[in-house]
Amino acid sequence: MATLDARALAAAEAMNKRSKGKKGGGEVKKYAVYGLGGLVALFAVYLALTDGQPRKKGGGKSKETAQVNDRYFVSDVTSYAGGNFTAAASPYFNGWSYADLKYGLDGVTMRSEGMIGMAGALQVCGDEDGVEGGALPSDYDLRALMPECTTAVYDAGNCSSSYAVAAATALSSRFCFTDNGKYKGLQLSPQQILSCDKKSSGCQGGGIDSVWSYMHKRGLFPESCVPFASGKSVACKSDCDPSQKLKSIDHCLMKGGEKEMKREIFNRGPITALMFLKDDFLVYSGGVYNPTDNANQQYGANNEPLMHAVTILGWGKSEGTAYWLVKNSWGKAWGEEGYARVAVGSVIREESVIVGSAATEEAIAEAEKKAALNEVRREELKKERAARDERIKEKQRQRAEEKAAQSAAEDDLDFEDEEVDLEGEEGESSEAE
Ligand SMILES: *[C@@H]1O[C@H](CO)[C@@H](O)[C@H](O)[C@H]1NC(C)=O
Ligand SMILES: *[C@@H]1O[C@H](CO)[C@@H](O)[C@H](O)[C@H]1NC(C)=O
Repeated sequence: MATLDARALAAAEAMNKRSKGKKGGGEVKKYAVYGLGGLVALFAVYLALTDGQPRKKGGGKSKETAQVNDRYFVSDVTSYAGGNFTAAASPYFNGWSYADLKYGLDGVTMRSEGMIGMAGALQVCGDEDGVEGGALPSDYDLRALMPECTTAVYDAGNCSSSYAVAAATALSSRFCFTDNGKYKGLQLSPQQILSCDKKSSGCQGGGIDSVWSYMHKRGLFPESCVPFASGKSVACKSDCDPSQKLKSIDHCLMKGGEKEMKREIFNRGPITALMFLKDDFLVYSGGVYNPTDNANQQYGANNEPLMHAVTILGWGKSEGTAYWLVKNSWGKAWGEEGYARVAVGSVIREESVIVGSAATEEAIAEAEKKAALNEVRREELKKERAARDERIKEKQRQRAEEKAAQSAAEDDLDFEDEEVDLEGEEGESSEAE
C-alpha cells in the first residue's frame, strides 16, 4: 500500500505541473519569470534577515536537522507563494526538526488500498438514489452554517494521530448535522482510537479507512470521558456510561472527485481525506495553499511519502482559485485558526476519500427497514424458487407420465414391430443362409 502512495504522488505531481503549466501559458516563460521574481525576492529576504551572516542552505542531509520553523525557510515560502498564501512559524512545530516528522507525522495511510471492493474489504460508495440534483452553492462552510456542529481544533502534539482526529471529528459533526439539537457540540474521542483500536498504531499512525471499522464495531465515547492525551500513553479503559457511546453505521471509498465530494458534504456532512505532506504546508499561515514549485514532499521513516489526514467541511473560491476548507490538528495557532484552505486539485487525494456515516437512530431504523425489506425479498425469492421447483417437478412428473403412456403404447407397437422384426430377422437370416 505504501508504494501506492508513492505512485499516487508521482501522478499527482505530474498533474499539478500540467495544470499549473496550462494556467501560466508558456511554461518556459513562466519559469523564467518566476526564477527572476524568486531571485529578487530571495535577495530582499537575504538583505532583511541575514545580518550579514552566510545563509544556511536547506535540502539534502542538512534538511534533517533543520528546524521546521526556520525563519529563512518561512520567509522563502511566503515569497515563493507569490501572494497566494503566507507562511509563519507555528507553536505546534516549535523545536521540531525535519527528522521529527518521521515520528510525529508518520504512518498515516489508506490501509485497504490495493484491495478495494474485495469481499470484506473497503467498498466503493454507491450512487445515492434520490439525492442527485439540486444546485450546489459556490461557497460552503459548515462552521458558518452550523457553528454548534464544529468543535475546537486539536493540538496533536508529538503524536501521529491525524487519522483518528479526522475520523472522530467527521463522525461527531455528522451526528450533529442530522440533529443539531440533540447532538449539539458533540465531540467524540479520538484518544479512544489511539488507546484501543488494535488495527491502528496509536501515535504511530493508522488507516483513515480502517478506523471507521473500529468506530462501527465499538463506537466512541465523548471527549469528556476519554480526553486527548497529546501523545502520552493512556490505557484503554473508561468509567463512562456505555449508553454514551456513538457508532458509525458504515463507511465507503468515494472515487468520484470534486463534485461528488461536494454533494456528499452538502447533504450529509464532513468527509475525511489524505493529503500529500510538503514542507511548505507545515508553515502555512493563511490564504489558499497550493504547493510552490520549490516545495518538497516529506518522507516517513520507511522512505514512503508522508500522508496527512484532514477533515473536509466546505469549499469556496478565492481570486479564481477553487479550494477545500479543511480542519487540521496542529492547534489553533497554525494556519487560519487551525483550518486551511487548500487548492482543489493540488495535494488532497480527491480520487479516494472516505465517507463514513453516523449510526443515528434514523440511520439505524433505516438500515433495519432495509434489512427487513431484504429479508422479505429473500423470503419472496425463496417462495418463488420453491414454486418454480414445484412447477418443474410437476412438469417432469407429467412428462414421465406421458412418456410412460407413450412407451406403453409403443410397447404395443413394439410388440407388432417385434413380430415384424422377427420376420425381418428371419428374412435376413434366411437371406444370410
Ligand atoms: C497563485 O495562484 C494562481 C491561481 O491559482 C496560480 O495560477 C499561480 O501559479 C499561483 N502562484 C504561485 C507562485 O504558485
Ligand atoms: C517525539 O517523540 C519521539 C519518540 O519519543 C522522539 O524521538 C522525538 O524527539 C519527539 N519529537 C519532538 C519534536 O519532541
